[in-house]
Order: sequence, then structure tokens, then C-alpha cells
Amino acid sequence: MSTQSTQYTNVAITLHWVIAVLIIAQLIGGEIMGQLQPISFRFEIYQLHKSFGIIVLLLSLARLGWRLTHTPPPLPSGMEPWERLVSKTTHILFYVLMIGIPMAGWLMVSASPMNIDTMIFKIIPWPHFPGIPQTEALEAFFKDVHNYMAIAAVVLIVLHVAAALKHHFVNRDAVLTRMIPSLKKRS
Ligand code: HEM
Ligand code: HEM
Repeated sequence: MSTQSTQYTNVAITLHWVIAVLIIAQLIGGEIMGQLQPISFRFEIYQLHKSFGIIVLLLSLARLGWRLTHTPPPLPSGMEPWERLVSKTTHILFYVLMIGIPMAGWLMVSASPMNIDTMIFKIIPWPHFPGIPQTEALEAFFKDVHNYMAIAAVVLIVLHVAAALKHHFVNRDAVLTRMIPSLKKRS
């Protein structure tokens, strides 16, 4: 079932911003956590990274479900066909990365011969991905996928933010305000 609207729903807006903040924090945290000392402290931070990462995975799956059952507001009428294509492609790629990055992280730790458990916020045990062989080669493969997808996310975020700012300050349309309703609305 599909719901037509000229605005993003509060659920879509909330999920967008919670996931955006978490992913940006995870990208920065992921980059610096590998250099942390001592090792025991590093272990705690890795558990925190995995915990927030699994939260992103679950929220992104919920968001995908929401997105598939709700039609987003139409783009401004003045946009060129290539701009619409870039916008749509970017959004689809974001969904791939929002789910793909934490999935690759989960697969990486599941394939690790070190076999370290994941405890979400030290309380909820999170299982390894079922049936996955624990080999160094597979762990290294998913580590590369995790890393390259994270790099792709940084590129996409820069593009996405630049487009949002261009809509707001150059085109002066309502694309940014419908994702940040507290900004003054423009027609
Ligand atoms: C939004 C979700 C996530 C983002 C944006 C993210 C991002 C990153 C980044 C940027 C790194 C550093 C990569 C490098 O320099 O090699 C990293 C490392 C890591 N991530 Fe994630 N991550 C996410 C979710 C997860 C999840 C769900 C898990 C596991 C359940 C996980 C496990 C790891 C581990 C174990 C490392 C360290 C790899 C190593 O150097 O040995 N991540 N992550
Ligand atoms: C990790 C960070 C981010 C991710 C993964 C992300 C992802 C997305 C996705 C998937 C959509 C499409 C919504 C849908 O139809 O489902 C979207 C829309 C949007 N995002 Fe982001 N976003 C991020 C950060 C940001 C930031 C920092 C800004 C502000 C500058 C922003 C501004 C917008 C706006 C204005 C829209 C609406 C675009 C439209 O109506 O076509 N996003 N975002």
C-alpha cells in the first residue's frame, strides 16, 4: 500500500536524521578506534562501534520498509532529467550503504577466527551471522568491503550535502526545508 504526500512524514524525517548522525559518528569513530591504546580500552570502543552499527542496521531496515510503503514528495518541477537521475541514484546507493556497511561489519566479525562475541551495549548478545566459515581470508574480504563502502559513503555524503545546500541557497526551493521542517518554509 502506498501513501501520497507532498511532505516527508515525521517518521521519515526522524529516521533520516538519527541514521545520518549515527553513520557520520560511526565513520569518524571507525577511523580513529584502530589507533586507540591500551588494547583493553580499544576492546570497549570496538564493542560500542559494533553496538551502534547494529542499531544503524536495524533502523535502516525499518527505514527501507517505510520507504517502500510511502511515496516521497515529488522533486521541484524545474529540475533537469539528469538531476532527477543523480538524486534517485544517490538515494538508492544510500540505502545500499546504510544496510551494506553494517552487514559487512557483522559478516567481518562473524568470519573472524578470533571469534569475539558482540554484546550490544554490554547487555544484549548479538549472534554471529549463521553458517559463515571462520577464515582469515573471508574476514579480510569483508573488512575490505566494510572499508570501501565506508569510503563510498563519505563521497556520497559530500555530494548529498552539496546538493541539499544548492537547492536551498541557489535554487531556493523547498527540498531542504522538507527534511528540516523547522527551517522557514519556501514555496
Ligand atoms: C553505520 C555502520 C558502520 C559504519 C559507518 C562503520 C564504519 C567503519 C569504519 C570507517 C571503520 C574503519 C575502517 C578501516 O580503517 O579499515 C570501521 C572498522 C570496523 N568496523 Fe565498522 N562501521 C559500521 C558498522 C559496523 C558493524 C555493525 C560492525 C560489527 C558488528 C563493525 C565492525 C567493525 C570492526 C571490527 C572494525 C575494525 C576493523 C579492523 O580494523 O580490524 N562495524 N567501521
Ligand atoms: C549519513 C548521512 C546521510 C544519509 C545516509 C542520508 C540519506 C538520505 C536518503 C536515503 C534520502 C532520501 C529519502 C528517501 O526518499 O527515502 C535523503 C534525503 C535528504 N537528505 Fe539526507 N542523508 C544524510 C545526510 C544528510 C545531511 C547532512 C543533509 C543536510 C545537509 C541531508 C539532507 C537531505 C535532504 C534535504 C533530503 C531530501 C531530498 C529530497 O527531498 O529529494 N542529508 N537523505
